[in-house]
Amino acid sequence: MNLHTAKGTLTETRETLPLDSLAEVDTVALDDQSDTLAIIDQTKLPATLEVEYLSSRDEAYRAIKRLEVRGAPAIGVAAAIALYLDVHSYWEHLSSTDSAPVTDAEGWERLSARLTETATYLDSSRPTAVNLSWALHRMGARAAASRHAGDTPAAAVQALHDEAVAIRNEDVRVCRAIGEHGLSLLHDGDGILTHCNAGRLATVRYGTATAPIYLGAERGMTFHVWCDETRPLLQGARLTAFELMASGIDTCLECDNMSASLMSTDRIQAVFVGCDRVAANGDAANKIGTSLLALAAARHHVPVYVCAPTSTIDRACATGHDIRIEQRAPEEVTELWYERRMAPESVRVYNPAFDVTDADLIAGIVTEFGVARPPYTESLAAIFQRKETVERNKVHPE
Ligand code: MRU
Repeated sequence: MNLHTAKGTLTETRETLPLDSLAEVDTVALDDQSDTLAIIDQTKLPATLEVEYLSSRDEAYRAIKRLEVRGAPAIGVAAAIALYLDVHSYWEHLSSTDSAPVTDAEGWERLSARLTETATYLDSSRPTAVNLSWALHRMGARAAASRHAGDTPAAAVQALHDEAVAIRNEDVRVCRAIGEHGLSLLHDGDGILTHCNAGRLATVRYGTATAPIYLGAERGMTFHVWCDETRPLLQGARLTAFELMASGIDTCLECDNMSASLMSTDRIQAVFVGCDRVAANGDAANKIGTSLLALAAARHHVPVYVCAPTSTIDRACATGHDIRIEQRAPEEVTELWYERRMAPESVRVYNPAFDVTDADLIAGIVTEFGVARPPYTESLAAIFQRKETVERNKVHPE
């Protein structure tokens, strides 16, 4: 397939970029010229910085499932763009065939059915990060509003384009606002421990847990960041270490089981992590190992801050027990990073992708509308009230 990108014509659906150009590339983007979803393929990092251009819903589903694009906000944005592209190409194809609907009502029936089918399919790619269903639901609501307003199906396709772009743009604004609120919890020279990758590679830009670090660095502050390796998929070692170093942040890598020892040396002033779903009571699901980190932090009196856009807070989940945890393939543990399989053949493997950190181990939940403090049932409700007020007055959260 030939694609036309900002950089010219490609004969492949992949483009390799210099490793030091990370800051110039969005993790997830809609490429309007080629009608593709452009993602950084994170399975190739840190060896190669490769942008992949995806044009079908199957490609998008596979990229999310295989963690080519990953991190709660990034998969939400990717799914919204993939849904728009699918409905757009479906509508173009339908309009150009003999079976084209003759009335808008017929067109709407077919378009709505396709939208629901594709949204359900994309939503099934990963179960834990609520941003995925949040973004797809928002796209569906935009289409429904368009229908309700009496638009033609063609106008609704354009509205879906604009909604996907809005979700993407909002992600950048929201992460910056989380950065501002998170920065108010830090001091120049602090040691910060982070787990997995809640960085720019997990969002469009800035990240959530890393946003305070990037914003502080822009303002001349220095932080010493410790990255947990994050077994079994090594998001900390491969992605967080890579992106922080690319931005000139002082970074040190450690294995997951070294965190308690590190905290006992007084070199960690705060733990900053992202999350995939926060329950109404403040329990937070994040990458496996986060709860262990929080337990060690409690013992060493280090505050744990969970950075969460409001799109990651699921008020329909009463507690962490209601959060579905993704189980992944055993080979990620036994084979993936080894030249030869390192565990006995047919050994049983336990490989949950996430765990739940109890709310009482979390010092604050940093959202784009401020820092929620315990008790979270009340403080998160107040955050949503603030959000509604801001949205009613159409003021951005910064
Ligand atoms: O399995 P992953 O790599 O998608 O897991 C990602 C995380 O656990 C992140 O911490 C979380 O999604 C927050 S990203 C801002």
